[in-house]
Amino acid sequence: MKVLAFETSCDETSCAILEDNKVLANITTTHILHREYGGVIPELASRAHTALILPSLKTALEISKVNIEEIDLISATQGPGLIGALLVGFTFAKSLAYFHKKPFVGVDHLEAHLYSIFLDYPELKPPLLFLLASGGHTEFFLMEEDEEIKYPGGTLDDAAGEAFDKGAKILGFPYPGGAKLAEIADKGDPERFEFPRAKTPLFSFSFSGLKTSLLYFVKKRPKKFIKENLPDIASSYQEAIVDMLLEKTEEAKNELKIEKIAVVGGVSANERLRKKFKEKFKEVYFPSKIYTSDNACMVGVRAISLFNKGIRTPFDSSPYTVYPEG
Ligand code: KG4
Ligand code: ZN
Repeated sequence: MKVLAFETSCDETSCAILEDNKVLANITTTHILHREYGGVIPELASRAHTALILPSLKTALEISKVNIEEIDLISATQGPGLIGALLVGFTFAKSLAYFHKKPFVGVDHLEAHLYSIFLDYPELKPPLLFLLASGGHTEFFLMEEDEEIKYPGGTLDDAAGEAFDKGAKILGFPYPGGAKLAEIADKGDPERFEFPRAKTPLFSFSFSGLKTSLLYFVKKRPKKFIKENLPDIASSYQEAIVDMLLEKTEEAKNELKIEKIAVVGGVSANERLRKKFKEKFKEVYFPSKIYTSDNACMVGVRAISLFNKGIRTPFDSSPYTVYPEG
C-alpha cells in the first residue's frame, strides 16, 4: 500500500511517501534558524512548518512519481511535541485526506521512532526491547509478539540527547552540539577523566548529575586546559552517557528476558554507542542514520501497522503534547 506521511512535531518538516516499508521519497528539512537562539523557538518552528509543508509535499510527489490519487493512506504525527508545530502537519494532513477522500491515521511520535527500525529490517519480529534515546526522550519500550507496546519506564530528568547537547554547550559548541561533541569525542581517550554514572532504579535513567559534574569540571580549570584537552573531556563525558545507557539496557533485558534489542532516536546515531552495544549484546539493531532523527518515513511505517489493525483517526481529533495520550 502507498502511504503519505508528515512529521512536524519539533524542528524538522518532513514529508515521505512509502510503498509498504520501502521509501519512495523522504523530504526532510531541519530548521537551522533556531541555532542562533541556542534552542528551538516554538513560534518560529510553527512558521517554518507552515512555509515548508506544501513545497515538501510537492517535491515528495515529484520524486516518487506518485500521483496523490494513488495514495491509499494519509498520516501525520499527532503528538507528543510542540503544539503549534504539530497542528501544522496534523491539520494539513487531515485536510488533504478529507479533500481526497482518503483514510487518515494520526501517529504517536515515540511509537513512530520505534517503527523506524522496520524501515531497515522489515522482517524483524517482536518481542523487542526498545531503547528510545533522543533529544526529548530516553525511554524503554517493550513491543510484544502481537505488536502491543508497553512502557516499562524512562529517564527521571534529562534525556540522553539533552545530556549531549547541554554538555556540548558547556564545552562551547553551537546548538545543537550533540553530534559535534560525539565527533570530537571519537578522537579522544574515554578513560582519561572520570565522570559519574548515576545509579537509578530499574527501567530508569538520570543524566542531570552528569551534566552538572561537567559544568564544575570546566569551571574549576583554566580555559587553556579545557581547549587543549577537549577531545579527552568530550570522550570521557560521552563514555559516561553511553555506559549508563548500556548498563540500564542490560538490566532491562535481563529483567524482561528479551533477546532482541533495538536502539532508536537521534542518539542512536552515536558511533561509540553502536560499538559498545554491538560488543555487549548478541542481537542489537539500529536504524540507518537518516532514520535516527525525526522523519516522516517512520510515521508512515507506524501508520500502515495501525491501518492494518483497523485503526482510523477521526477528522475532529486534535494533536496532544504528552505521552501517552490523555
Ligand atoms: O530523535 P531526534 O532527532 O529528536 C527528538 O525527537 O528529540 O534527536 C535529537 C537528539 C539531539 O539531542 C542530538 O544532539 C542527538 O539526538 N544526536 C546525537 C548524535 N546525533 C544526534 N547524540 C549523540 N551522538 C550523535 N552522533
Ligand atoms: Zn523524535
